[in-house]
Amino acid sequence: MLLSGAAFKANPYPTYARLRAESPVYCRVSRDGAARMWFVTRYEDVAAALRDDRRFVKDVDATLTPAERLARPPAPALYRLLTHHMLNTDGDAHARLRSLVNKAFSARQVELMEPRLRTIAHDLLDRLVPRGEMDYVDDFALPFSIAVIAELLGIPGRDRHRFRAWSHILVAPSADVARNERKTARLAQVMQDFVDYLQGIFAARRHTPQPDLITSLLQAEEAGDRLSTEELFSMILLLTVVGHETSVFLLANQTLILLTHPVALAAARSDRSLLAPLIEEVIRYDGPVERATMRFAAEEVALHGITLHRGDAVSLVLASAHRDDHAFAQPDHFDPLRTGARHLGFGLGPHYCLGAPLARLEARVALDALLDRLPTVQLAIPYSDLRWQTNPIVRGPKRLPLRWKA
Ligand code: HEM
Repeated sequence: MLLSGAAFKANPYPTYARLRAESPVYCRVSRDGAARMWFVTRYEDVAAALRDDRRFVKDVDATLTPAERLARPPAPALYRLLTHHMLNTDGDAHARLRSLVNKAFSARQVELMEPRLRTIAHDLLDRLVPRGEMDYVDDFALPFSIAVIAELLGIPGRDRHRFRAWSHILVAPSADVARNERKTARLAQVMQDFVDYLQGIFAARRHTPQPDLITSLLQAEEAGDRLSTEELFSMILLLTVVGHETSVFLLANQTLILLTHPVALAAARSDRSLLAPLIEEVIRYDGPVERATMRFAAEEVALHGITLHRGDAVSLVLASAHRDDHAFAQPDHFDPLRTGARHLGFGLGPHYCLGAPLARLEARVALDALLDRLPTVQLAIPYSDLRWQTNPIVRGPKRLPLRWKA
């Protein structure tokens, strides 16, 4: 069954419906036959696996025996410097890393950012409104999301465009990169640039501390036992990449859904208190994270009569769980007033999205600003002409052309 490619990404839902019905735990074997990857597609199974961080681990090394670990070639130093983050760790190490940044992302802290987010959104729109058209992804969602995360971390405004290029390349599907030597060399170069850039910022913050997240992480690193140098770099990479790649497509998808659902659009225009439930339904109906990040079976796991082996990769398909009619009534229907099961669009369990309060705020501020400033906005191309991101984890259009009466 085809689970990638442009045609699949344009509408993956019929394929997922077949998998849920016929093969709820579906195996794909790598080209060389050496590695297995399982796709889990039913809501109950996805939710249970997200919660079960004992049998489904994020750190692939945790699935190896001491002998297997010794036999593995060491990862390149640069790679290690950028992969020691909380989405690759489990248990105590994960809890320690998460506790270092928890406070900055708490609902209370995030609330304080609302006026600043509104200013960023309106400044962007001030420049866009007279044009009468834009690509919502490139012209609004990207600069808005990058500005927000860069401000929280403490990245100077003038450097923000460089973040876009870095994170775009760093989230490229790794299989793609591994298959292509030129791409591997390019990735190493991008990683090196990113590390060099951060070293410059760190030196500046050590000299003159600021009230930002980078300064507080540096203080944790200096305290010695709380954050290693590898973890410091990896944390910033993780926050930069997940902190905007997902938000961009939450913003794009919600705009696309509203512009193709006139009743919901009219309701949202006249009653802004509907925005919060509407955003939750966007995340369920067509959220930006199609599949959770990779997990690995820590031991043999039996599921629907199938045995997953220790070390097998496991992909939990959130977008499929969200269309499971055992969890949601009429799941293919967009209904902002729906009640019932909770969506898994921010994950669940120990790795539940740290940025969820910030992402919700970004989505609300962006939608509010769009409704206020562009009353005649509409899609500039037919829905069927949209092209979709090919990254297997992310769901969203590559471009979202809009037009309005300027
Ligand atoms: C403000 C932007 C965001 C930030 C800073 C952020 C940050 C994070 C971090 C640090 C994690 C890892 C948590 C851990 O391992 O303990 C995470 C996980 C996750 N985030 Fe976000 N996030 C953001 C936006 C979003 C958005 C918009 C979505 C989708 C609607 C999303 C969905 C997820 C999911 C599904 C996971 C769990 C991944 C897994 O378990 O494999 N995030 N996020």
